[in-house]
Order: sequence, then C-alpha cells, then structure tokens
Amino acid sequence: MAEAKPVEALTEGEAADELAFLAKEIARHDVAYHTRDAPEISDADYDALRRRNDALEAFFPHLIRADSPSKRVGAGVAEGFAKVTHRVPMLSLTNAFSDADVADFVARGQRFFEKDAGLELAFTAEPKIDGLSASLRYAHGKFAQGATRGDGEVGEDITANLRTIKDIPQNLAGSGWPDEIEIRGEVYMTHAEFEALNAKSAAEGGQVYVNPRNTAAGSLRQLDPSVTASRNLRFFAYAWGFASAPFAKTQMEAVAKLSEWGFVTNPLMIRTSSVEEMLQQYRAIEAQRATLGYDIDGVVYKLDDLALQQRWGFVARAPRWAIAHKFPAEQATTILERIDIQVGRTGALTPVARLLPVTVGGVVVTNATLHNADEIARKDIREGDTVVVQRAGDVIPQIVRVIPEKRPAGSEPYVFPEFCPVCGSPAVQEINEKTGKPDAVKRCTGDLICPAQSVEQLKHFVARDALDIDGLGSELIELFHDEDLIKSPADLFRLKDRADEVKLALFKRREAQAAAREAQSGAKRKKVLSAEERTYEGLDKLFSAIEARRRPELDRLIFALGIRHIGEGNAALLAKTFGTFAHFESVSALAASGDDGAVAQLMSIDGIGETVVGSIVRFFSNARNKQAVDDLLGEIEPLEYVVASADESPVAGKTVVFTGSLEKLTRAEAKAMAERLGAKVAGSVSAKTDLVVAGPGAGSKLKTAESLGIAVIDEDGWLELVGAS
Ligand code: IVH
Repeated sequence: MAEAKPVEALTEGEAADELAFLAKEIARHDVAYHTRDAPEISDADYDALRRRNDALEAFFPHLIRADSPSKRVGAGVAEGFAKVTHRVPMLSLTNAFSDADVADFVARGQRFFEKDAGLELAFTAEPKIDGLSASLRYAHGKFAQGATRGDGEVGEDITANLRTIKDIPQNLAGSGWPDEIEIRGEVYMTHAEFEALNAKSAAEGGQVYVNPRNTAAGSLRQLDPSVTASRNLRFFAYAWGFASAPFAKTQMEAVAKLSEWGFVTNPLMIRTSSVEEMLQQYRAIEAQRATLGYDIDGVVYKLDDLALQQRWGFVARAPRWAIAHKFPAEQATTILERIDIQVGRTGALTPVARLLPVTVGGVVVTNATLHNADEIARKDIREGDTVVVQRAGDVIPQIVRVIPEKRPAGSEPYVFPEFCPVCGSPAVQEINEKTGKPDAVKRCTGDLICPAQSVEQLKHFVARDALDIDGLGSELIELFHDEDLIKSPADLFRLKDRADEVKLALFKRREAQAAAREAQSGAKRKKVLSAEERTYEGLDKLFSAIEARRRPELDRLIFALGIRHIGEGNAALLAKTFGTFAHFESVSALAASGDDGAVAQLMSIDGIGETVVGSIVRFFSNARNKQAVDDLLGEIEPLEYVVASADESPVAGKTVVFTGSLEKLTRAEAKAMAERLGAKVAGSVSAKTDLVVAGPGAGSKLKTAESLGIAVIDEDGWLELVGAS
C-alpha cells in the first residue's frame, strides 16, 4: 500500500486510506520508542513515515485526521520531556495595536509615578522576535538546565536540545554574574536556514515546512537532540527570571551584561524618553522587517529603570512596565471561489472558503476557515467575492472582509445549508448550555447514520464504558466500516453472518501491513500467506464477545447511543427513571414529536436540563436515527434497570455526601450510582450523614465529618465498597 506513489497521483480514497494507516503505524512506533524504549524501526525509517504523512496532509488538507500524528508533535512527543517549574514565572506581554495605545501606555506610567517630582521616564524599544521563549538556568556560570515557557509556571526540560544552539553559551563569559540566574530569550530560525531546510526536504520528497516559527518549535521539541542540532537554531537573550543577586540598575545595562556574558542580544534596541522616538523606532524596525533575516512581529517597549519596574508591577500574567506594539497582520486580496461545508466527526458543519491561491506573508493560502453561518452572514461573504485574507501570526488564514465594489453583478447572499451535505439529515443549531441561546454551530442530526460521524459513533458504541465489546477496538471498527461491513450498531450483531467477508477484510489488512513494512524496511517478506492461513484466530473470540453483549445493561446502552450531552451520569439517570429501554424510547419519541407532557417528564428528572432534553429531542426527531435504534433493538434485548435491593447494597438507606473532586466518576454519575444502590445523597454534612466520600481538594465538609466522627473514604474506597472497582 505505501508504495511510494507520488502524493499528487493518489486518489482521495487512497490518500485517506494511507493517512489512516500512517496514523496507526506512527502511533504504534511512538509507543514502541517512547513508552517501551524498544523501537522497531530505524529513526530514518520513522522519519520517512512522518514525512510521507506530512506530504499527504499538505496535499490533502481536508483529509487531516483527528488522530493525525502531526497534531501530536506537541503533546505526544512532549511526553518525553520532564517538567520544570520556573523559579520566577515567565510572563507574557500586553499588546498595543496603535500609536495611541503606546501613548496611553506612557501616560499610564507618568500618572503612576506623578508624585516622583522631576522623574523622567525612559523606555527601551526593541524588536519582538517571533520564536519560542526559553529560560536558561546558569549555576555558578555553567548552563545547568533549559526549559520552554509552558504555561508560564511550568515548562518542559529541553536542556539537551538547547545545548545544541550555538548562541547559548555553555559557560558564561566575563565576570560579575550572579551564582544562580535564569536567562530568558527567544529561540528562532533564520529565513536562510528555513529556506535551506525546505529545499533539502523538497529534494528528498519530504514535507513542506510552513513557517520558521513552527519549524523552530518542532525542532526544539525533538526527543533526539541531533535533529535539533541539524536545524541551526539561534537565540536572542532579552530578559531574565530568578537572579540570586542584582546585577544591573536598568534594562539597557542588564542587556549589556547579557552580551558581555556571551549571549547574542538584538542590535536594534534603543533607549528614549519620548513617545515620538519610540514610535520612530517602531517604524524604523518595521521598515527593516523584510531584510532582517528573521521573523519579528512587533516592537517591545520596556521601562528602563529596574527599580521603577518593580514599583509599577504586574497585572495578571503581564508586567505593567512593558508593552508589545504589534505589526498589523499580513493581508492579501484574492477571490473566494466557493464555500464548502465540511462535516466533522461530531457532526459540526464547518464552512470553508476555497480561495484562488494567494501568497500571504510568504505562505500560499488556498483555504480559509469561515467558522460558522453567523460569521458568513455578519461579513456578508458570498461565493465569487473578492476578499481580504489575513494570516494573523497563526497558520490558519481568516477572511477579514469583502471588497463590495468588486462584487460580481447578480451575486446572491450565501445560504447556509439546512441539511448535512454528507448524509442529507437536517442540520440544526443546539441550545448552548451556558447562554441558553442557539449555538453558532449547526450540527448534522444523523448521529447514527451519517458517514461523517458513524465511525466515531461506532467506536463509542463498543467502547469500555459503553457496550464494552472485548477485542473490538478502534482499529477493527475502522476496518469493518471501510469495508462496508458495519454502518450502524445493529450491523455489529450481524457481523457473524458475514464471517467470510470479515476474514477477507482482515486478510487484506494483514497483507497491506506486511507490504508497507516491506516497502519501509526494504526487506523481503519471508513467505506469502496461503489460503488456509487467511483465517483469523481471534475471530471466534470476537464473535462470542459480541454475542455476549446482546443483553446490555440499560444505562450502558443509553450511553452507547452517543446522543450528545448524554454521558454516563445522565445515561444512568435516564435508565433509573425509565427502567426499560422501551419506556425511555417511547417518552423520547413523544417528546420529539412535540408532546409537551413528554418534554416535561424529561425535564422533571433531577439533574437533567434543557440541553440534554434538547439533545434527546434532536436525536429522536431524526427518523433515520430512530430507525437505526429500532434496527438495533431487533438484534438485542436490553436488560431492565434494577435498583439493588436494600439487603444486597452496603449503602442502602445510608446518607452519603460527596465532596472534593472525583477523578473516575462525574458527580452526576456518583450520585446516580449511590441512589441506585438505595443511598440518599446529601449536599452537606450533618449528624445524619453516614458516609463522606472525599476527593482531592475537599475542604470544610471533610473537616465537619472528621469533627463529627463520620466515616470518610476516598473515591477508590467508594468504588470498592459498592463493588465497582
Ligand atoms: S520581554 C516580562 N522582549 O513575546 C516580559 N519578550 O508576547 C518578558 N518576545 O513570551 C518578555 N521578543 O516570548 C520580551 N524582545 C522581547 C521579546 C519578547 C519576543 C516574546 C516572549 C514573550 C512574548 C509575549
């Protein structure tokens, strides 16, 4: 399958298949490498898999999967880095977008210090480097540890990678440095390096790197420092965090020290006492932007005097004494040829603008997100319009506005579809839980039958917390779905009748995997499988696992249907309320047909609100969902919901209080569970309380319980007590 057919020569179907294969294969190798420390392929082969994935995604951006390896670069790989708590948090900067914002900033400073007679405030102005900030801890002049910014409090230990950057000294030069100091600055990639890397990658048929910043980020988060080293990253020092002793009185002086100690500092930094000169420097730096050789996205002004900085202080996560004056986002004009609707795996309909390709800030843009129907209406965006496109720092381009003078005659406002373009089901807006107003996003109501949603729905259906079908994981669901063997939950129970086709599908997959391995490693396969070997030993087991679930517990079944907003807790509440599936279904169907009594009955369930009821109504209003459910009921016989009898349950008749946060159960679920077992759940602790289940963060309720001598257990203890551990 992974015959190196050029990406351009693939059909969409082939590309989608290959992306699915690569997602799994790369994830498997990631586990082998990072978790088990037992790589099965060479780094070069692994990189080749990733490059192929990147190349496919670059060419077929609409096929990028939710579980794409490219989305995991950050989080996934990051699991390999240890956490570092910054001794002084790494702050961000407040933004200024206009000259007036800058004048306001200076005026704020003047007001703050107005009692200091005769004080003239001086500010520094320097480029804002568009890279990644890093904090470098030096102990007795030696580079000891380096970390990413992370969330500002805790970053990741990337010492080994930072050591490969030649602008970062291993030992501080000169003298006078504090024993302990965190030096801060920006890691970045020059344009020359970025272009060379892309040229090299293109020559090898590899991925296209989008911009220097993202590439620098990816390069820094490599688990193999030799990869980082090959990227020739650079570093500008411009700040510091913890310092065991003061070493300067002003920003200017401090940065001069950083330079003496061997760091590269930016040559465009000036000091001035006037707003005019600050703005002049802004324009001077902006004028040089294209020829600097590295990306900058604005100018940072900082109060020069460090003692005054300290006095002026901080707001939330940013200093009051500094501000980032941003350059306007890069924009270009092009034609919006068409608006396509994509249907996501949760059924969200997302409009995408297909553009006549245009270069914005050095990147060719062909698509832009339109977010939702409201946004299209608000900006009155129509097919055929000439539009202004903008890339604001980030990679995803946006449509800023339409140029109405260029609108072709006879153009019509865009009408957002009322139906899902994939399955034809009605598309509706949900009521937002928080605002009580309709959501901006329209969703397909074909939960169980829409091909765009069904694979995820099926995976959910068989998952551990739902029907819990042993041995039927995501991979097999995808395979059977791709091979048209299962389209809706009922098909699972008919899979056995198509055993031959199932075997064939499994065989095809095995062949494809072997062929891919062969293509990757260059090694020949030892032997070709014979017809007899086309059996699948686990198959009987799988079929019996499916058979074993023909009588599912009611709460699990309701949860398994994947109705939005019905998690395990709500499913348990519904199961408890209705007792049988038939009862639940008939009330839901009545509610869907507009029966006020049925709606009221659902609304009256303690713990179930408008959002959930809206969701049930939406689900059962779609005749095809209902049909899929009935089809399923032809195959299975859900159990009645039984409330444990008093003598069986260890908590029957007891009053239980949950406090603190629970990690394995939601509150609703814990409550439903307790009630199902005959307990009464109370909100506060009193002498009548029999048992307190306390999680992390439990406060006054726990104290009261302890003072009253009431039994206290944790969540695990609770699960054990009720036999659910
Ligand atoms: S000073 C307490 N100076 O911009 C102030 N930051 O938007 C710390 N940045 O997280 C930052 N160039 O990554 C400062 N010359 C510069 C900068 C700069 C780029 C980054 C830095 C910071 C972000 C805030």
